[in-house]
Amino acid sequence: MIFRRKIKAKHRPKDGLSRTENLISQPHTKHRVFNNPDVLTRGWYPVCASGEILKNEAKSFRIAKQRVVLFRSESNTLKALDAFCPHLGADLGNGRVVGENIQCYFHQWEFGGDGCLKKIPCQPELNESFNKVKNLSYPVKELYGHIWVYSHPEAAHSMLKPSGLEQSDVSAYYFGEVELFAHHHVMMANGVDLQHFATVHDLDIKFDFDIDENNDGTFIWRLKGKIPDDNFKGRLARFLLGDEAEYHVKFGGGSVVTISYGVNAKIFGKPVPTLNVLWGCLPNDNGLSRVRIFFVTKKRYGLIGRLKSAVLHVLTVGLLVMLRDEDIEAFPNMRFNTHRLIKADTSLGRFIQLIDKCELSDWAGINDS
Ligand code: FES
Ligand SMILES: [Fe+2]
Repeated sequence: MIFRRKIKAKHRPKDGLSRTENLISQPHTKHRVFNNPDVLTRGWYPVCASGEILKNEAKSFRIAKQRVVLFRSESNTLKALDAFCPHLGADLGNGRVVGENIQCYFHQWEFGGDGCLKKIPCQPELNESFNKVKNLSYPVKELYGHIWVYSHPEAAHSMLKPSGLEQSDVSAYYFGEVELFAHHHVMMANGVDLQHFATVHDLDIKFDFDIDENNDGTFIWRLKGKIPDDNFKGRLARFLLGDEAEYHVKFGGGSVVTISYGVNAKIFGKPVPTLNVLWGCLPNDNGLSRVRIFFVTKKRYGLIGRLKSAVLHVLTVGLLVMLRDEDIEAFPNMRFNTHRLIKADTSLGRFIQLIDKCELSDWAGINDS
C-alpha cells in the first residue's frame, strides 16, 4: 500500500561513514567509476542558477577538486576557465569583467573566454612575449534556468534533454537541491533497478528493456511492462493508463539523468504528455552527493500553454514525492555493494558496466589517499 511506511529517513544522519565500516567482514567491491568517490566523470555539472551571474560579473565555484571561474562578458556571453590566475594564482572570481575578458584583481592580467592571456595593462612591453600564456577553458551552457559546465575542455555530448524532447525548446521548473544519502551513481542506478518496483513500490511490473549505448558518454534505457492487477495500486494504474507502462531513462556522462514517466501513456484512451524529471548531480568531498532536480516540459506559449505546463509540473511533483518517499527508506547507512548481483539485477549490472566505461575528468585531482 502507498502509505504503509513511515517516512523517517530524512531524520537520519548523512555522514557517508558506511564506506569505512565492516571492511574486513564485508569487503567492499570498488569499481573503476561507478560509486567511486575518488574519480569524476566527464560530464555536465550544474554550477548555479543563471541569475547568479549577471552581465559583467564573475564568480568562482568548486566542483570536486577543481575551482572554475564563470564570467558573463559585456556581450552577455558566458565563459568558464580554470580559476587560478596563471601569474601568481589569485582567484579570477575576485576579478572584474572588462569587455569580453576577465581581469585578475591582483596585477590586472586579462584573459579571454578562450583562456588566452590578452594583455598585461601595467606591463604592456610584455604583451608580445607572454602571448602563449593560457588557462584551460571549459564548455558552458545555460539550460533549465541553470548554468552547466562540462568537466573537460571539449564536450563529448550536449547537455541532456529528456527522451522525446531532444529537438524541442524546453522549459523547466527547478524543484530544489537535495543532499543524497549516497553517491549520485547509486541514486541513478535506482531508476533502472527493476526488482525494487515490487519490493519498494508494491508494483510488480515485469519490465523488458533495451539500451541504446552511444559512444559519447550517453545511454538510454527504454522499459516497458504489463501492469499487474493484484493490488489496489496496480488496478488503479491499469484503470487510468491501460495494461502497459513505459518509461525511458537517459544518462549523460555519469552526472545527469532524466526519467520520462508514462511514455505513450493514454488516459481513458487519450494520449497524455510524459512527465519528465531531470537530476543534475554534484559530488561532495565525503563520498555523498548533492542533486539538483528539474521538471522539464516542452516549451508552451500563451496563457493556456503555460497553464498546461504548470499542471504537468504539479503532477510531476506528486509522482516524484510519492516515489521518493518510498525509495528514500533504503538509502540511509547503505554501503552499496555489488558482490551478489543475481539474474533479476541484469539491468542494474548493465548500468554499472556502462558507467564504468565513462571517460574520466581531471577534476577529481590527484588521489592522495
Ligand atoms: S596573480 Fe593574477 S595578475 Fe598577478
Ligand atoms: Fe523507486
